[in-house]
Amino acid sequence: MNEIVIKTSEETAPTIQTPKQSQDSLSETIKTLGLPQIQRHLFLCADQTNPKCCSKAVSLEAWDYLKRRLKELGLDQVTEAKPSCIFRTKANCLRVCMAGPILVIYPDGVWYRQATPHVIERIIQEHLIGNKIVEDYAFCNHPLPQKFVPAFGSQTLDDNPSSHLDHEIIEQKTE
Ligand code: FES
Repeated sequence: MNEIVIKTSEETAPTIQTPKQSQDSLSETIKTLGLPQIQRHLFLCADQTNPKCCSKAVSLEAWDYLKRRLKELGLDQVTEAKPSCIFRTKANCLRVCMAGPILVIYPDGVWYRQATPHVIERIIQEHLIGNKIVEDYAFCNHPLPQKFVPAFGSQTLDDNPSSHLDHEIIEQKTE
């Protein structure tokens, strides 16, 4: 029988599960995290192995602020009144490597520079809640194609008619 090794964290030893057990575990995790209810997913360059866009301390301050504010505002949780949530992920490097912390929001495809706590608060209030790009800090706008829903094993990205969208560069404004 095939076995899958799952390492749950650096502190715990890997556990060995059968494919059926691992699918059951994943199904439970999908439910707990509310993955099907994600409305937007934020990636923030933070805690970098090789800090380039900003210092590690600045990135971690931004990351802690983002996590705390999403939680305080209840944006990271699904509720009966609000059946969608915002997901956030700490990225080691988003490859822009300047003017950080760099933050990108999907599926909107809006990239932000200098995402310090003050800017993150504006992004939360104006972009996440108000659905309006914070143009003072956005430097690229490239929404991902939204109509393509891949079916397991039957389609490839080449079938996606909207996968070659142009992107728009937002003029960087000086402060
Ligand atoms: S180090 Fe932040 S984008 Fe590369």
